[in-house]
Amino acid sequence: DWSMETFIDDTVNELREKIGDKKVLCALSGGVDSSVVAALIHRAIGDQLTCVFVDHGLLRKGEADSVMRTFADHFQMNVVKVDAQERFLSKLAGVSDPEQKRKIIGNEFIRVFEETMEEIGHHDFLGQGTLYTDIVESGTETAQTIKSHHNVGGLPEDMKMDLVEPVNTLFKDEVRKVGEELGLPKEIVWRQPFPGPGLGIRVIGEVTKEKLEIVRESDAILRDEIQKAGLDQEIWQYFTALPDFKSVGVMGDARTYAYTVGIRAVTSIDGMTADWARIPYDVLEKISNRIINEVDGVNRVVYDITSKPPATIEWE
Ligand code: XMP
Repeated sequence: DWSMETFIDDTVNELREKIGDKKVLCALSGGVDSSVVAALIHRAIGDQLTCVFVDHGLLRKGEADSVMRTFADHFQMNVVKVDAQERFLSKLAGVSDPEQKRKIIGNEFIRVFEETMEEIGHHDFLGQGTLYTDIVESGTETAQTIKSHHNVGGLPEDMKMDLVEPVNTLFKDEVRKVGEELGLPKEIVWRQPFPGPGLGIRVIGEVTKEKLEIVRESDAILRDEIQKAGLDQEIWQYFTALPDFKSVGVMGDARTYAYTVGIRAVTSIDGMTADWARIPYDVLEKISNRIINEVDGVNRVVYDITSKPPATIEWE
């Protein structure tokens, strides 16, 4: 019978025993799993933990700040923040194939992480947010292989670090409970699923600064309005995507030629199948008006009314 209090106490004791006076490195991604792992390890060994947060510029609005606020300011952990936006953008320049983009983002992430590890010196352990379901499913990846879902994990053999995986006996909802108990903020604990390649696959086709900005700003508006409407608990995942075309519109008495923002919002149990969320028309209207008025370069907003299958949740 699983109880959260004993889980945290037992895990902290086990971590102390295993790690001793050695040093641990954790990669923070902004996601709940890596956040809970960092918080658990920090509770066990404090300053012997160093976190690396690679800001690849593909996170949603406010997320990088939230990570730094939480871990560096609130928990006062050692956090090495690597600003790698330009680096990722230049690697992605001219690339429009979704799988290619995933590969580039995944590889670049590992490269930046490795370089950072070399700079900050040897650590004995690497903390990872592997869940129980990751272990169970990894033998039989079925639909997962439709897209090469990347997570931080593909570190090379010669890194010579032992893994510490303190939540690998837990399910997602248990990880969230532990996160709440450890005092992590709601926005991290209840974060909706977010792909490793981030906004890089929500900008359809080539990723540019301008297009990233449109997706990031429109997504922030969508999230704000969904929250205000009290719908954030019942919708599994909601975000905007930016198709790679422009269309004609009219503003005042001038013709415009600008981008279309797509809204995607789905209900689901596990992401394997999904249905489009029946967001009330007046909420959709508010979202549409705000995106048009507040985001430069957009003159049209559409709502995706496709289930999965045949569509996927993401547009790439
Ligand atoms: P799809 O688009 O395949 O998405 O219906 C199912 C779930 O997986 C997430 N997703 C990803 N997660 N790396 C990830 O870590 C990826 O490349 C990736 N692609 C999709 C998606 O957000 C949804 O929750």
